[in-house]
Amino acid sequence: MADLFDATTIKNMALGNRLVRSATWEGMCEADGRPTPKLTGFYQTLAAGGIGLIISGYTFVRPEGKQMRGKMGIHTDEFADSFRAMTGAVHAAGGRIAVQLVHAGGQTDTANAGRRPLAPSALKLAQYPEVPEELSRAEIQAIIDAFGQGARRARAWGFDAVQLHGAHGYLINQFLSPLTNRRTDLYGGTIDNRCRFLMEVYQRVREAVGPDFPVLIKLSAADNLAGGLSLDDALVAATKLSAAGIDAIEVSAGTPASGKQSPVRADIDAEDKEAYNLDLARAVKKVVRCPVMVVGGFRSFDVAEEAVRESGMDYISMARPLIREPDLPKRWLAGDRRPATCISCNGCFLPGIKEGGIYCVQEKKKKT
Ligand SMILES: Cc1cc2nc3c(=O)[nH]c(=O)nc-3n(C[C@H](O)[C@H](O)[C@H](O)COP(=O)(O)O)c2cc1C
Repeated sequence: MADLFDATTIKNMALGNRLVRSATWEGMCEADGRPTPKLTGFYQTLAAGGIGLIISGYTFVRPEGKQMRGKMGIHTDEFADSFRAMTGAVHAAGGRIAVQLVHAGGQTDTANAGRRPLAPSALKLAQYPEVPEELSRAEIQAIIDAFGQGARRARAWGFDAVQLHGAHGYLINQFLSPLTNRRTDLYGGTIDNRCRFLMEVYQRVREAVGPDFPVLIKLSAADNLAGGLSLDDALVAATKLSAAGIDAIEVSAGTPASGKQSPVRADIDAEDKEAYNLDLARAVKKVVRCPVMVVGGFRSFDVAEEAVRESGMDYISMARPLIREPDLPKRWLAGDRRPATCISCNGCFLPGIKEGGIYCVQEKKKKT
């Protein structure tokens, strides 16, 4: 029977257990996106805490794809030394690290993007801070190319895998969703057309890293919004990705405009509020051949273990619990199976914006 602490492999990437640190923007990079020694230290601490795989915070592939302060960029060869120091530190601590590649599309503002944001369609929507500009075909091709260049750099700089950010209302998700994609050309309309940008990004990334290197995706299996991406449409995307050779799909759901059904739900204080994307992930698992990861509200060892044993999940991803307890995997492995101490207050975001890096505000309160 599968176990949370099984050793597994994804292509040539050997993982010590089935626990994954889901991508978490840390707000610890320079204004131009260069990673800092503080961020390297943060990842080294996570690796030392026993997590099987770290997925980096979302990392923009072109400057106008930046959303938040302190976000990482992989758009230039100039950051080679800083990235090599980061991957080297994680490996020295026995860890594995994937970089999450993103373009924010319309889900950013002029101040962060350095220009009017670009999106599939120029729409006024709750999830967009401004009305973006509609992407031209040439700009679409330039962004696809930038994903490929980012992936090439990632492999050269020592990352163990790349993950495409196809969730939470960012550009790939904007193309998939009928709410944000109203294009009438080959990139809009039918679900096949709405998948075109994603599949072209995937193919370009695959060409850049080669057949042996793990290419993963975090995919929203629903937008949790009226008129947004449905599970049925997401299953079409998952089926296409699986057939094309994706190495794992991490299932999430929602956008920042999805209210109580956002990707980062608050107040997970009972087991029945945990694992809030598990039903979607089970549906994805049924249509794909690749491993499936599931993220969203995992706090109890038993809930995580059951998702592996009973629901066939290949990996369990967590974000907030590991901000509070980077050594949670080691604690569980050592036999202390009490739930994560994270109370899902979402207080960790603010220091990322205001103080140069995320941390658990509850832990800080305890110490002061
Ligand atoms: C501070 C913070 C930053 C996040 N940044 C990202 C990100 O860069 N990319 C991403 O895909 N999800 C991001 N997320 C969402 C998490 O990866 C995860 O999907 C969500 O928090 C639910 O998992 P959890 O209940 O284990 O925290 C972030 C969440 C938090 C709290």
